[in-house]
Amino acid sequence: MKAEERTFVAIKPDGVKRGLIGKILTRFEDKGYKIVAMKLLQVTPEIAAKHYAEHLGKPFYNRLMYYITSGPIVAMVVEGYGAVDGVRHIVGATDPDKADVGSIRADYAQAMEYNVVHASDSVESANREIAIYFEPVEIYDNWQSTLEKLVYDEERYEG
Ligand code: CMP
Repeated sequence: MKAEERTFVAIKPDGVKRGLIGKILTRFEDKGYKIVAMKLLQVTPEIAAKHYAEHLGKPFYNRLMYYITSGPIVAMVVEGYGAVDGVRHIVGATDPDKADVGSIRADYAQAMEYNVVHASDSVESANREIAIYFEPVEIYDNWQSTLEKLVYDEERYEG
């Protein structure tokens, strides 16, 4: 049985500027995931440094800092069974040319640096990233999606 998980997703400045917010949100909603927090915000250099601390010192770090602060992002918390890996599958590989056909990055991106969307790579990263962008009171999961029992019923399915 898969665990119910939360993951952090950001539509990056290129995704927002290109008018892709709706199309990207639809991918997650269509899968049956629940969006339990969401906001449009300007990433400050301080937030960017916290978020991407693991990339400090890498050749692309300065460009990544410039890019992620170059306009607003849409930050969200997505909830669902096995959501960390499931969302990454929908998002696709970091390099859009290696991303599975039909994934967001394969469909909308050409460059590794401007890859439209970010998604946490593990439950631990998700918890860390969610805490950077959201206060606990900004996360609303006290509502039931009409799809909940249809897309994944803990009591009935094993896989
Ligand atoms: P993201 O999933 O947000 O995680 C780190 C980001 O750094 C990544 O998406 C890309 O935008 C960028 N990135 C990762 N690897 C490279 C790379 N080799 N060259 C340029 N940018 C990269």
